[in-house]
Amino acid sequence: EKGGYDWFMLKEIDEQPHALADTLRGRLTDSGEIMLDEVRLTDQDLRDVDKIFIVACGTSFNTGLVAKYAIEHWTRIPCEVELASEFRYRDPVLDRSTLVIVISQSGETMDTIMALRHAKGQKARVLAICNTNGSTIPRESDAVLYTRGGPEVAVASTKAFLTQLAACYLVGLHLAQVRGVKYADEVGAVLAELQATPDKVARLLSEMTPVRQLARDLSAAPTVLFIGRHVGYPVALEGALKLKELAYIHAEGFAAGELKHGPIALIDEGTPVICVVPSPRGRSILRDKIVSNIQEVRARGARTIVIAEEGDLDVAQFADDLIYVPATPTLLAPLMTAVPMQVLAAEIAATRGHDVDQPRNLAKSVTVE
Ligand code: M6R
Repeated sequence: EKGGYDWFMLKEIDEQPHALADTLRGRLTDSGEIMLDEVRLTDQDLRDVDKIFIVACGTSFNTGLVAKYAIEHWTRIPCEVELASEFRYRDPVLDRSTLVIVISQSGETMDTIMALRHAKGQKARVLAICNTNGSTIPRESDAVLYTRGGPEVAVASTKAFLTQLAACYLVGLHLAQVRGVKYADEVGAVLAELQATPDKVARLLSEMTPVRQLARDLSAAPTVLFIGRHVGYPVALEGALKLKELAYIHAEGFAAGELKHGPIALIDEGTPVICVVPSPRGRSILRDKIVSNIQEVRARGARTIVIAEEGDLDVAQFADDLIYVPATPTLLAPLMTAVPMQVLAAEIAATRGHDVDQPRNLAKSVTVE
C-alpha cells in the first residue's frame, strides 16, 4: 500500500498536489466567490466575529501561525494563535463574538479537544479544520471545514500541513468577502493564485533531486538552524520540527530578526542554516532584511542553505546551497517553501537509518493530555 515508495511519508509528500486540489475543489466559484456553505456558520455569525483564536498542536499549530498573517491582513480581525496545551490553563478572554478555529489532522488530539471544550464552555463559536471525518473534534465543534487530504499514515505531518494551510486561506478569504474587504483586488488575485498552487507544488516535487543530495551532506550535522521572517518564520519552525522528529538532530527555527538577540551565538564554522527568503516581488523590505541576516550568519561561518523564489538570481551570491521554489504571493508562499523541508527531513532520517514513518517516542495521534 506504499505504492512503490519506501516510506508512507514519501508517498504522502508526493500526494500533496492532489490533496491540495481536493481541499480547494468546489469551494471556489468561477466568479471568485468562496463557497463554504458546509461550514454551517451564517454570514451574520461571521460578521459578528470580533476576535479570532487559532488553537492547535505541533504542525497544526504551525499552520495556525501562518494563518494569522493571512487572516489578520485580509479581514482586519485581531487573530491570536495559541498552543492547545496552554490555552485553557490561562483563562483566555472569550465570548460569543470570539471565533475559535481549532486545527487538527486526526481530530483526536486530547490537548486540542480540551481547548475546544474550554472555548465552548465560554460560549465562543468553534470552527474545526480537520482531516478526519466524524472524529471527536469536528463532532464537538459548531462548524467544520474538512481538509480532504486523505489518510495520513506517517507520524510526521506533511500533506496535512499544506491542506490545512489551504483551508485556512479559504476561511480567511471567505471572512473577508462576507464582511466587505479592504483589499478586494488583492483577494481576487489571491484566489486565482490559490487555484494555481497544486500544479506548482507538483512541479516543485519533480525538482527534488538536489535536495536529496543535500540531505546526504547534512546527515551528520549535530545541529541545524532554520530562519525566516513573516510567514517564513512559521515555516522555519515547521522545518525544524520535521528534522527533530524524524532525524533526531537538534534543530531550531528562529524569526531571523531575533538572531542578534541571542541565537546567533550558536553559529559555528559549518553550522547549516536554512534560510527562507520571501519573494523579491512582494514587500522587498522583508527580503532585504533577511538577506542581511543571511550575510550575518555567513560571516560567522554558517553554511547557508537558501530557499528562494525562482527568478531571484541576486540571492545566489549569499547561498552555499540554493533551492528555488515556484513564485507565489507572499502569504501563500508556505505552500511552496515547506515542501523542500519535508523532503530534506525524510531523506536525512532515511540516510541515518531511522524509521521514517514511525519515529521513536512518538504516536500519530496524541490522545493523552
Ligand atoms: O492530529 P493533529 O493535527 O491534532 O496533531 C497535532 C500534532 O500532534 C502533530 O501535528 C505532530 O506535531 C506531528 N507529528 C508533526 O509532524
